[in-house]
Formats: sequence, structure tokens, C-alpha cells
Amino acid sequence: MATEADIMRVEGLTMAHGERIIQQGLDFAVRRGEILAIMGGSGCGKSTLLRHMIGLQMPAAGCIRLEGEDLNDADERVRRRLRRRLGVMFQAGALWSSMSVGENLMFALRESLRDDDGRLRQRQRIDDEALALQARFRLALVGLDGSFERLPAELSGGMRKRAAIARALCADAPLLFLDEPSAGLDPLASARLDALILQLRDRLGTTVVLVTHELDSLFAVADRALFLDARQRTMTALDNPHHLREHGPDEVRAFLRRDRSDSR
Ligand SMILES: Nc1ncnc2c1ncn2[C@@H]1O[C@H](COP(=O)(O)OP(=O)(O)OP(=O)(O)O)[C@@H](O)[C@H]1O
Ligand SMILES: [Mg+2]
Repeated sequence: MATEADIMRVEGLTMAHGERIIQQGLDFAVRRGEILAIMGGSGCGKSTLLRHMIGLQMPAAGCIRLEGEDLNDADERVRRRLRRRLGVMFQAGALWSSMSVGENLMFALRESLRDDDGRLRQRQRIDDEALALQARFRLALVGLDGSFERLPAELSGGMRKRAAIARALCADAPLLFLDEPSAGLDPLASARLDALILQLRDRLGTTVVLVTHELDSLFAVADRALFLDARQRTMTALDNPHHLREHGPDEVRAFLRRDRSDSR
């Protein structure tokens, strides 16, 4: 059973693509209100784990519980209800290129208003003006107040990332997943993003699970870090990153002690 302190539990999870096992023996909880970083070399299965944690991919074994309930429950209505409690920014972070940034957010807001059967709830068929207002509020949260009318192609890489996060915020979800939000950003843009992620936790009480390669980011925001190992195909550490740098397993310690400039 999940305790009050845990919003999600990953229990005995094996992840596979066909016959090929990507990771196994994953057992951990996401604590309510924490920022949990998922770390590990390229191809070890970080994005795959995220896809499992949002119910997009079925476990080969084990299960994932959100507030005690199995995310892959046989009942479609239960699955829909659970998934509405999750916000996601995928690694590609793609916005619809033919829609303005504001329209992208309004689309996501409309989606978040569907009921357990996938229909728009009657009392929440709100008009476009109200949706636009909500979209502008999300854009302001990520510092993109002026970008409502712009097309994604007209934004810089860092702005696009923030727009993608704003779109993930449209789900109003207590649990937010971000796949490499700061990849490819310059140090300043990356630091701004770190500040935003901390604000989400501290002001909105959002629980954040993020994949990152950036050590600066990791030490700046993460309450805990989960390390996946590509060779052993399982998790090798889960703890506060500062603690792991001093007391973690050898490989994790070595990784966390790299020259910070290597991580960019
Ligand atoms: N749809 C798929 N079909 C088959 N294999 C896949 C599929 N998606 C990913 N894989 C494989 O699963 C493994 C884990 O991929 P994943 O994308 O989860 O890695 P990652 O840790 O997120 O890597 P990166 O740091 O490069 O983003 C890789 O070996 C990849 O080739
Ligand atoms: Mg990935």
C-alpha cells in the first residue's frame, strides 16, 4: 500500500521491448512534493521508465500505483481518471507547429476537461475566452507572457522548452513528468528552468519527476536521484544527490564528481 507520503509506487517493475529486457527489479516510491531525478547513461531506459510511470507502456512484470491504484487497471475509466492526474513533457517536447503557442495550450486545457469516458464535461464546456485566459496564466508562470500569438517555430529553443512545460501544466496535475527539460539549453536558460521547477514544487506543491543529464541542474533542484545502470539493467542508487556524491556506490560517486563542465 502507498503511504500518505508516497504519491506513486513502482513495484517490482520489469520493462521490456519485445523479448529485450531494458530494466528489471525497479522498486521505489515517488514522495509527495519531492523533485525526483532519473539519471543514467544514454539508452539505459530513462524515457522508457517515464512512459511506464504515465501508463503509456505496459510493464513486462510488476506494477505502478498512483495514490494506491494500479495505473494499468483493467477498467479503462479508472485508467483515464488516474492519467488525468499526470502532466507530461516528452523528450522531444513537441508543440503542434501549425498552432500558435496559445492555441497549443488551449488544446491541452480542453483535453484536461474530459471525463472518465473521454467526453467533455457539460458544466465545463467553457468558452474560448476563458480558456485563453487560463492559457495566458500558464504562459506567465513560465515567463512567456508575450508569446501567446507566436508560432512554436518563432521561439528560441529555451522558450520552446518553457512553452512545452506550460502545456504540461495545463493538466493541472499534482504529478509532473519532464524528460530532459534543460537539454540543449545554455547555462543561463538552464538555471532559469531550474528556478521554475523549484517554484512549481514550492508554490504549487507539484511533485516533479524529471530526467536529466545535467549535474548543475541535478544538484540545484533534486531532492533525490534514482540511478539506472545500462549494464546491470537495474537501479543502482536512490538518495539525495549530495549524499550520493559522498557515500554512493563507486560508479555513481565517480559520475557525480565529474568536472561540471563535462556535463554540458
Ligand atoms: N519503441 C521501441 N522499440 C524498441 N526498443 C526501444 C523503443 N524505444 C526505446 N527502445 C530501446 O530501449 C532502450 C532504452 O531507451 P530509452 O529511450 O528509454 O533510453 P534513455 O535512457 O531515455 O536514453 P537517452 O538518454 O538517450 O534519452 C534503448 O536501448 C532503446 O533502443
Ligand atoms: Mg530519453
